[in-house]
Amino acid sequence: MTTTEERPTTAGTERGFPPGFVWGTATASYQVEGAVAEDGRTPSIWDTFSHTPGRVAGGDTGDVADDHYHRFREDIAIMKQLGMASYRFSVAWPRITPQVDAEGLGPVNEAGLAFYSTLVDELLAAGIEPAVTLYHWDLPQALEDAGGWTSRRTAERFAEYAEVVAGALGDRVRTFITLNEPWCSAYLGYASGVHAPGRTEPAAALAAVHHLNLAHGLGAAAVRRAAPGARVALTLNLAWVRTEGSRRADADAVRRVDGLQNRVFLDPVLRGRYPADVLLDTASVTDWSFVREGDLALIHQPLDVLGVNYYSPTVVQAWDGSSPRAENDGHGASTHSPWVAAGDVEFPELPGEKTAMGWSVDPRGLTELLLRLHREHPGLELLVTENGAAYDDEVVDGRVHDVERTRYLRDHLAAVLDAVAAGAPVTGYYLWSFLDNFEWGYGFSKRFGVVHVDYATQVRTVKDSARWYAAVVRRNAVPTAAG
Ligand code: FCB
Repeated sequence: MTTTEERPTTAGTERGFPPGFVWGTATASYQVEGAVAEDGRTPSIWDTFSHTPGRVAGGDTGDVADDHYHRFREDIAIMKQLGMASYRFSVAWPRITPQVDAEGLGPVNEAGLAFYSTLVDELLAAGIEPAVTLYHWDLPQALEDAGGWTSRRTAERFAEYAEVVAGALGDRVRTFITLNEPWCSAYLGYASGVHAPGRTEPAAALAAVHHLNLAHGLGAAAVRRAAPGARVALTLNLAWVRTEGSRRADADAVRRVDGLQNRVFLDPVLRGRYPADVLLDTASVTDWSFVREGDLALIHQPLDVLGVNYYSPTVVQAWDGSSPRAENDGHGASTHSPWVAAGDVEFPELPGEKTAMGWSVDPRGLTELLLRLHREHPGLELLVTENGAAYDDEVVDGRVHDVERTRYLRDHLAAVLDAVAAGAPVTGYYLWSFLDNFEWGYGFSKRFGVVHVDYATQVRTVKDSARWYAAVVRRNAVPTAAG
């Protein structure tokens, strides 16, 4: 790797990150592993969903994906070559307790645990720190059959599963993230139905919100029991919500979407209460009677690190019904809205640059988000656990010249630094994603990787953006826009 791209800058045209800043990349089990029926794994809701005709673009499934289950050694070698300090991956719950049901975990599958244990050992041998997400959406199907996240028993089983994984890996893993983006699990899974399990019941989505919060709290306590030295984190896809409208109703649209996306998770976890306005806003959908006495204390556990995933800004306005409701929220097409009890809020199309997902590019949002968290929750350590972009990459003569992705990364890293400079305690950054992979409802049609995957041959090609990122990591600095 001796290309010009890897030299990010000449002296004076780069900005440095704090010493010890952790540089990494991320993936998730169902998106990369494949091997869905191997070593005792049973189906998850994403196996069922992707095998249901019409659910995933192109009829794609995660049956093989990147075959990371078999190729992780090769993948770790690439990470090492790129100088990654950390790898965030997730554990597939159906590999660990394949016989789980609502009543109990069933026997632990040693072969499933052994896979992750070996993965951790290989990472450590390569000098790469593992960061483990316990739940990145592949719920065992048997639990969904018993109610899924609408049932508190799913939260109870999650905590037991978390204890098993933390017990097995906690001697070598420093960071456990309980859940990835419970917003998506709840609202895309149970309200708009564009994610597994594909249900479209607004009340169920709010029950799912609560039971995911409960799963985080019970899971956090379980990780502490099993791995007292580990750090406990939660990863949220928080939104930088704004409006370009000036009506009172526009400001109210901001408040409501902020409530449904940000505060309904942040407040119970960090303050031990649900936001009163969200309870009121959603009163026509549910009375929240699934919140039992004592639940909020269970949810309000000490949190060592908050993981923040950021891709794109969220712009809203009040919908007055005079034209079709604009739904450019970036969360897929559905006749059912994920925005429970917010049918009079719309998401206008924004001018300007977009990624292949149709997501607007605005790095300012990442700065604003990190600064808001710093302001409202002073002292809370922040980690960017996902950020990146999909573009229509092509391999030409063995190279992928993904200049747009490199620019996206450069500008978002500068945005992280702006927040750090203003005092936000951000300690690391995980690029989404290490590999092109199964992008949920979009299947393999969207490429987020800095390493290209040819799905027919499983050949990996390091994209130019990965070489650029490797230089950033090596220098612990990002070139300025002109650099
Ligand atoms: C996030 C998910 C991740 C990936 C990116 C693009 O919402 O956590 O798995 O799909 O979006």
